[in-house]
Amino acid sequence: MILPGSPHVAYRGDTLFIEDCPLAGLAAEFGTPLFVYSQTAMREAAAGWRSALTGRDHLICYAMKANSSLAVLQTFIEAGCGLDIVSGGELERALAAGADPERIVFSGVGKSRTEMRQALEAGVLCFNVESEAELDVLSAVATRLRRTARISLRVNPDVDAGTHPYISTGLKANKFGVAHQRAVAVYRHATTLPGIEVAGIDCHIGSQITEVGPYLDALDRVLDLVEAVEAEGIRLHHLDLGGGLGITYTDETPPAADALVRALLERIDERGHGHRRILFEPGRALVGNAGVLVSEVLYLKPGDAKSFCIVDAAMNDLMRPAMYEAWMGIVPCRRRDAAPSIYDVVGPICESGDWLGRDRALAVEAGDLLAVLSAGAYCMSMASNYNTRGRAAEVMVRGDSAWLIREREKPSELFRGERLLPKV
Ligand code: LLP
Repeated sequence: MILPGSPHVAYRGDTLFIEDCPLAGLAAEFGTPLFVYSQTAMREAAAGWRSALTGRDHLICYAMKANSSLAVLQTFIEAGCGLDIVSGGELERALAAGADPERIVFSGVGKSRTEMRQALEAGVLCFNVESEAELDVLSAVATRLRRTARISLRVNPDVDAGTHPYISTGLKANKFGVAHQRAVAVYRHATTLPGIEVAGIDCHIGSQITEVGPYLDALDRVLDLVEAVEAEGIRLHHLDLGGGLGITYTDETPPAADALVRALLERIDERGHGHRRILFEPGRALVGNAGVLVSEVLYLKPGDAKSFCIVDAAMNDLMRPAMYEAWMGIVPCRRRDAAPSIYDVVGPICESGDWLGRDRALAVEAGDLLAVLSAGAYCMSMASNYNTRGRAAEVMVRGDSAWLIREREKPSELFRGERLLPKV
């Protein structure tokens, strides 16, 4: 049986492997719930983006919000990627993982003065500015530090990415970016500000996009703006086309990264913009399919209306189903030769929203291990400590080697910074 997602997660006989490591063996060694990643899958994903860009001045800035674990960052840095960050915390992580600040772009609609200062002192490549107000504050902060902030305006092209409303960002009604019709005026304003150097233009229209069409629409709108801005004598050196490329969770058929990039470059060249530096900010497409979440079945609870398969992973480990009703594949780490039953796979958290999958056909017993597929992106990075659950451990695999890249969080670590009130 071919599983959706990565070729590096596959059955050999009845045993589920990630690369050359059986997941059950990793669960025995490191415990559950456990995130396991294939480094080869990450490297291949990065190579896919790069292959279509060979010979061009380009930078692939991995959107580290998708998975910001240090060893994951290290993997992409070693693969030649820059990073897209959205907070001072992500900047600290990026530097701790060995990132070159000259290859970091700083996105986000609400950068604080402290974060701006931190990024200016580090010397990041570019601030992706999202409003006029932010631009003014950045100018003031940079001037005080006697530094220059290179900026790009995130423009909102007002195109529908055709994705879930919570992860769609390129529509007028979204909080992101500068409205298309305001952009030229804002660029003009930027050139008058001290401490600001205009470097480029960017857009990001949403996430889990499975078609090329919305990207081409957005690109055309962005190139229209580039032409209008340059007609004012303002040079834009780079085009940052954001992230958003989808992956296969079930039966989605997103374009391959190299096909998407080729289609975009073709349009860029046709319109005479081929000399510009090209940036992308992919997150999910680089890590999503590289990871799984392994969890142990605690109890089976048959019922009249529904039967439940209660596992030791929960919504705090895997927010996507609860938050977006996202469908993620769930398969046994060892297949049983038995008739499946239909279960809702749920966690131990005291919320009805705590489910990982609904109406899944599974042949399982208590003590079995299940793997949630395509759990490399927006799972660990969105994990919480709800119900005072420590976050899961993470393991990176390459071939038949496995490394613990994050220890399981202990409850005592969760309340370490808390204080009891003085006794009266
Ligand atoms: N650039 C910017 C400015 C972004 O806001 C994002 C994602 C990316 C790049 C990377 O997008 P990607 O290539 O990963 O689609 N938590 C949601 C996804 C939220 C995406 C937020 N922004 C989920 O689990 O589906």
